[in-house]
Amino acid sequence: MPGGEHGKKSAGGTFLFWRHLSHKEGKITLAGLNQETSAVGESGAAMFQKSWSIYDALSEKNYMHHREIYARVEEWLGQRGGEAYSILDLGCGNARFLAPCLKKHPPAMYVGVDLSAAALEEAKEHLGSLLHVALRQEEMVEALKKSKSRFEVIFSGYALHHLDAAKKVKFLTLCLERLAPGAALLLVDVVREEGESREAYIERYLEFMRRDWAEVPGHELAEACAHVQAHDFPETESALRGMGEKAGFARMNRLARFGPHQLWELQTEEKSRMGKG
Ligand SMILES: C[S@@+](CC[C@H](N)C(=O)[O-])C[C@H]1O[C@@H](n2cnc3c(N)ncnc32)[C@H](O)[C@@H]1O
Repeated sequence: MPGGEHGKKSAGGTFLFWRHLSHKEGKITLAGLNQETSAVGESGAAMFQKSWSIYDALSEKNYMHHREIYARVEEWLGQRGGEAYSILDLGCGNARFLAPCLKKHPPAMYVGVDLSAAALEEAKEHLGSLLHVALRQEEMVEALKKSKSRFEVIFSGYALHHLDAAKKVKFLTLCLERLAPGAALLLVDVVREEGESREAYIERYLEFMRRDWAEVPGHELAEACAHVQAHDFPETESALRGMGEKAGFARMNRLARFGPHQLWELQTEEKSRMGKG
């Protein structure tokens, strides 16, 4: 791998990978993230523990609009005007779709957090040419609690809906604490229709998967459906806005929407009252 790589297994079992392109210092700053391990195997990450292949196959087919959403993420990063920034990616998976955006707008530091060792192993390859990369196998709320660093951008793609409502608020509150002044949280996630129950949403989403995800092999589709049924807890727009407000974000803007697949920007600064973007 270009730039050299060092890996370490901490006493608690957390795998840590870091890269320093110049080879000079060896170990890079770990952005304040504690190296102690935390619970691995949270239910929402179960499908991603063994293998990354099912998710890779369905994102490759663009069933969850990764292409359009990440194109907007890339555009958003470009609008920062080339200012130096560090980015924390919570539930980073293999970073396959974020990596090309970062290559166009390279951060001074990228920290990726995920529970899946299989995904992190692949992330090392996808993030290959970036200068400073740290990957942590850790539960994302625990990682936020331990972090002492501030980031100009926090990103989280299709991971928040795995948390229950109380933990979502905790996640957002901790994100705000870890954001530098004027920084923003970019959130990609599935969102329920207003007034739609979780049960009705799951029924609708499973119907969509069985109808439209035609190129996913039957047994993998069944596994993906079981994962959604057991572990997806998306919020409605109003609930999400309420959570953002409770956490202390000043404003929430929806940047892209493809049915339930949406991209949100949560701003730290009080430019105006939080409202529809
Ligand atoms: C659907 S994948 C999304 C991957 C990538 N961010 C994307 O946008 O394509 C969700 C990822 O979140 C991780 N994940 C789920 N719950 C998590 C948690 N509580 N802490 C850390 N990672 C979690 C899973 O292991 C998985 O890699």
